Amino acid sequence: MTEIMINSEKCTGCGACVDVCNVTQVYKMRDKKAVVASARRCWQCGQCVAVCPVDAITHSAFPLEKCPPVGEYSAAEILRTNSILQNRRSVRVFKNKSVERSVIEDLIKVSRGAPSAKNRQTVDWIAIDNQEKITQMRIKTVAVLGDIARDLRIKAQGPGLDEKLQRQHLLYAKSLEFLERKQDRGEDAVFYRAPVVLLAHVPLGEFGVEDAVYAGYSLMLAAHMQGLGTCQIGYFSIALAQNRDLQQDVGVPEGREIGLAMILGYQKYRYRREIPRRTPEVVWLN
Ligand SMILES: Cc1cc2nc3c(=O)[nH]c(=O)nc-3n(C[C@H](O)[C@H](O)[C@H](O)COP(=O)(O)O)c2cc1C
Ligand code: SF4
Ligand code: SF4
Repeated sequence: MTEIMINSEKCTGCGACVDVCNVTQVYKMRDKKAVVASARRCWQCGQCVAVCPVDAITHSAFPLEKCPPVGEYSAAEILRTNSILQNRRSVRVFKNKSVERSVIEDLIKVSRGAPSAKNRQTVDWIAIDNQEKITQMRIKTVAVLGDIARDLRIKAQGPGLDEKLQRQHLLYAKSLEFLERKQDRGEDAVFYRAPVVLLAHVPLGEFGVEDAVYAGYSLMLAAHMQGLGTCQIGYFSIALAQNRDLQQDVGVPEGREIGLAMILGYQKYRYRREIPRRTPEVVWLN
């Protein structure tokens, strides 16, 4: 059970804990001091402990020794962060160099800062750096996607399908068949001979995939800052969703699903230029 106490002598009555706990309303103000109204309602997001300017809150889930102070961001850091966000690319060409497992585990630790629905923090990872295993996964993926391509061609020829959908089916089938042709030529068009494949897995049900994507993107940015390249591999996720055999191969735990698949490795080329991106449309509703 969550236990929360407020040191009323330290509390300045700023009200920040009441404000940030506005979803579950654990706190209220009384006589210009914060008091705990109901600790049972706490969903353990940790915002109150993180915001209190005088460390007046003692929270059983967040002892202060486990919550180090956060520094301010300098203008230079903000500029650099913007540049990091702009310049991350999907990397598909890697140095022939393995990535130390400790480096990967550190990146996974960084990804814990990502948002998760109800602060559940349920994203776990499967990491594969065994090249033989990755090759087997690739061969199965291409086979599953090849079957999907053949189904799409049959569907496209079926009666009553409008022309646009028919064209879409055929285009998609072609792109999947292209992977087979590349494989026949000895190329890896699924994992691009990356030294590592990372799979983020989450509980089946609502918001799991979103949690995985946020965690994955955080990892991608952290990796990018260290000269490591990543690329999401949607093709593998599609094959995995269709094929129990592949799910067993990667050991998806019972009651969970893969929310995101990505590759990771030291990138061979440095991208020297930022490219223009579409400016998102913004509609202000007045
Ligand atoms: C949902 C999703 C699935 C993706 N699947 C693949 C994939 O299977 N293979 C691949 O080479 N790239 C894949 N990508 C990478 C995109 O092609 C890439 O993000 C896009 O072209 C923009 O390039 P950038 O990431 O370098 O900015 C995927 C990206 C997303 C967001
Ligand atoms: S941890 Fe979150 S939910 Fe719990 S008391 Fe603090 S702010 Fe409220
Ligand atoms: S944030 Fe801290 S100082 Fe401010 S009201 Fe809450 S307990 Fe008091």
